[in-house]
Amino acid sequence: MSIIYNEQDRSFTLQNGRIAYVMQLFHDGYLGHMYFGRALKHFNLQRAFYQTEREGAPNPEALADARTFSLDVLPQEYPTYGSGDYRIPALEATLSNGTTTLDLRYKSHEIFQGKKSLAGLPATFASDKEATTLEITMQEVGGELEVVLSYTIFDDVDVIARHATIKNIGSGTVYLRKAASLSIDFPEADFDRIHLYGKHAFERNIERTPLNHGIEISSSTRGATSHQHQNFLALCAHNADEFQGEVYACGLVWSGNYEAATEVNSFGNVRMTMGINGFDFKWQLKADESFTTPEAVLVYTADGFNAMSQHFHTLVQEHLVRSQHKDQLRPVLVNSWEAAYMDFTEDSIVRFAEDAVKLGAELIVLDDGWFGVRDKDNCSLGDWTEINAKKLPNGIKGLCDRIHGLGCKFGLWIEPEMVSPNSNLFRSHPDWALGVPNHIRQQQRNQYVLDLSRAEVRDYVVDSICEVLGSADIDYVKWDMNRNLTDIGSAAFPAEQQQEIVTRFVLGVYDIMERITSKFPNILFESCAGGGRRFDLGMLYYMPQVWTSDNTDEVCRQKIQYGTSLVFPPITMGCHVSACPNHQVGRSTPMLSRFICAMSGNFGYEMDLGKLSAEEQEEVKSHIALYKELRPTIQQGKFYRLMSPWEGTQNETAWQFVAKDGSEVVFMYFKNQCLPQGNIRKVRLTALDENATYKVTHHLFSPSLAANALDYLSNYNLEGDIFGGDELMHFGINMDKVDRDFAGHLLVFKKQ
Ligand code: GLA
Repeated sequence: MSIIYNEQDRSFTLQNGRIAYVMQLFHDGYLGHMYFGRALKHFNLQRAFYQTEREGAPNPEALADARTFSLDVLPQEYPTYGSGDYRIPALEATLSNGTTTLDLRYKSHEIFQGKKSLAGLPATFASDKEATTLEITMQEVGGELEVVLSYTIFDDVDVIARHATIKNIGSGTVYLRKAASLSIDFPEADFDRIHLYGKHAFERNIERTPLNHGIEISSSTRGATSHQHQNFLALCAHNADEFQGEVYACGLVWSGNYEAATEVNSFGNVRMTMGINGFDFKWQLKADESFTTPEAVLVYTADGFNAMSQHFHTLVQEHLVRSQHKDQLRPVLVNSWEAAYMDFTEDSIVRFAEDAVKLGAELIVLDDGWFGVRDKDNCSLGDWTEINAKKLPNGIKGLCDRIHGLGCKFGLWIEPEMVSPNSNLFRSHPDWALGVPNHIRQQQRNQYVLDLSRAEVRDYVVDSICEVLGSADIDYVKWDMNRNLTDIGSAAFPAEQQQEIVTRFVLGVYDIMERITSKFPNILFESCAGGGRRFDLGMLYYMPQVWTSDNTDEVCRQKIQYGTSLVFPPITMGCHVSACPNHQVGRSTPMLSRFICAMSGNFGYEMDLGKLSAEEQEEVKSHIALYKELRPTIQQGKFYRLMSPWEGTQNETAWQFVAKDGSEVVFMYFKNQCLPQGNIRKVRLTALDENATYKVTHHLFSPSLAANALDYLSNYNLEGDIFGGDELMHFGINMDKVDRDFAGHLLVFKKQ
């Protein structure tokens, strides 16, 4: 891994032996982007940017005679508006004289080992041995702005991390209108565009479309990443699939409004940008002040989407999650929400826990409803230290101690960023909620959002939450965030800074998360936001796992978890078995299929296990025991998608886990709708040892329901059978003809 500046052709090359990222300075310091892709041994930069006259493309004055150089066609690193480039800019600002034309030129650069942290922001980290960083300082020709572009290349993952710091080096006041984290230009637009869209309870659906001319944007204006769009974008070759093909993907280490855009111009070039949303963004920079963008990460692979995901997964686990729980096996969790909602007492939760612990549960989580007068979701948010004495007469400690007495860990739900209109907190501090003069605030789930741009509000939140968390020996916290932002205004800031508040809110969230999580390093924190509204790289810096979705239906979850795994490793994905009929979609599916789907991540239950029949309880007990046995492979191994629920029959899904040392393979297959005389599906596994054989140690599938099914079923149990690694990868394995809807199959192979 190295970064080299070549004085002869004024080029910068970042490379790690597998990938390279090349930039070059042109003329008076224009910074061009020349290449991102597989590592190259030789690169003739004379021919890399083909210069020719383009009608309508402006030329810098000094080069006007030749008419072959224009910023409108130069592939660039951090483009601006007003000096010739008409494509999407990375940076927009209003200078102190009111003008908006910007023209950035190279000033200096620095190369160093390792990676700096970003003050107040989540970011990837690496030791001096693991990464090298280049900082290029650009100066705006008008003399008011300096921009430092930062690039880090990692040794163990094919990722470039980028961010920019913009500083006011003049004496007047400048307003930033947009400051992207990355911009990258590709000479050809022959790509498909992949993005993840969704809604509450159906997050991260995969959408793949060919790139179109013009600008396409996926974004959030909701104050959080959002259920609707994920701050991830990929461009891929038309023939790319899970196993092969070029993919260029980016993700943002940020949890607020964002914008991910592509633009294809008339010459067939494509620009991809990602960063804080420029919509409704304005940031005041007085003399000497600077603004640092969130970090964006760029992945390149020639080996398809599984390889892309492996890079994201390694980046998350090795260079983003800081929690001491990162490498620890995560406990089997049983959450009270769908079991009791807000209708519980200390005794009922202890009974709930006893039943769960008997079956193998390791962590009992008390969800919403334990504070203030909260029997419904319309009150008491903010009154964290007022423990509901009717439900918990002995406080959190009383309950926590009794749960610990069962030999089990105890966890608690909180939603610190919010306040209910009906709360003592709001009655005493109505101005602590975000709000705009002369406007009546919008409610969502009968709640307002706290103005976390204000230090005293953040201090209140930190103090009250720390008081609760310090009052008992709490092992786990589910940190929720159940509404989008509206009425974004702060009573503490002047008019010129009101458009900073939506960004300051997120910085405030990071501040309280930093303070609370570092005060309680032993607590395992799980982030949640109405399920997956804020499942992003920013949150994972503070909390090592996320509640993936409020939807626990096994069929929907196949799609949600498949889409989520594009970026996030299964250990980060909270996945629970819940009761049937399912509370979100009313569907009933077999317990085994629910288990196989939920065990494909950070496993738990979202139901009252004590209400199951004795037979069902035995089944649950065996599932939990099996999960514990396979947990190292699932939580710490590698994950590969094999069959997409979005493609092919759209009726089947398959994926697999391979243990870190390759010794175990856990394979899952789902077929949702049974069809008469259905095809026998042959699924090919991947990433096995071609020279080894694999023995089936577990083979579970839901029994057929068709009347004539029983006689052949017993023949299909493969436990004890041996398959070749090459056979499983190249021939594949025939799945059972199970005649029922919502069939789930689990096969565990041990390498011989
Ligand atoms: C959100 C979460 C749920 C649950 C409720 C409690 O919707 O996603 O899991 O915690 O809040 O109010």
